[in-house]
Amino acid sequence: MKKFLRNAILAGVILMFTSSASAADISLPQPKTSGGKVLFEVLHYRKSVREFYDTALTREQLSQILWAANGTTYDKYSDRKGHVNPAAMGIYAVDVYAVMADGIYLYQPDKHALKLIAAGDFRATTTLGQDFVKVAPLNLVYVENVSAWEKSPRPINREHQIAFANVAAGTMAQSVALAAGAEDLGNCVRASIDIKAFKRAAKLSSKQNVLLAQTVGDSPLVAKG
Ligand SMILES: Cc1cc2nc3c(=O)[nH]c(=O)nc-3n(C[C@H](O)[C@H](O)[C@H](O)COP(=O)(O)O)c2cc1C
Repeated sequence: MKKFLRNAILAGVILMFTSSASAADISLPQPKTSGGKVLFEVLHYRKSVREFYDTALTREQLSQILWAANGTTYDKYSDRKGHVNPAAMGIYAVDVYAVMADGIYLYQPDKHALKLIAAGDFRATTTLGQDFVKVAPLNLVYVENVSAWEKSPRPINREHQIAFANVAAGTMAQSVALAAGAEDLGNCVRASIDIKAFKRAAKLSSKQNVLLAQTVGDSPLVAKG
């Protein structure tokens, strides 16, 4: 019995070590900015799905999804750097966290990379009990950085800040839905999140406000091709 217990503890320690050791910052390949499916077809087939395979996304798929969520752009016609999604007063107050089987990552738009925040499987913290969330390979969490509003040249009351942040998160989530559709992936926008548990797991401060989540992954309910 003693030997069994010792082996079980040892196995647990090794598992903890290997699962956290495998998680690290992720640099993403450059996203495709041309081609792909016809937009109107993607819009026509847009839907929420609640059944996912546990297959991990490829780096290329991850790159497209995160770029759609909060990526940057360059418009050669006006020689202008921009963003995939709009933001009130040009204040980009919403950050995107990617919650995957091996960890929680913060998407860094300028680097187009994922910074590891916490190693481990925290997907369950992004839901209030919807089981498909725990299986799907990617759950995005849209988080308002309240301090970002300090960049505003004129005061914005809190009510407007919250409205602006929610609208921004909505546009980000719709871009992700379209990118997911173009990649033949399923998605589901979700407001039911275990906010307290996610804030703890992602080490968020009191100046960070959890707005919305979105599950993305391969689904038997999405036709291929
Ligand atoms: C703000 C918002 C919050 C939502 N929250 C959830 C949620 O927590 N769980 C869920 O399964 N679906 C959620 N949905 C998805 C809706 O239930 C879904 O869009 C609606 O039933 C219409 O279905 P469709 O998206 O397939 O057209 C949410 C959608 C929005 C826009």
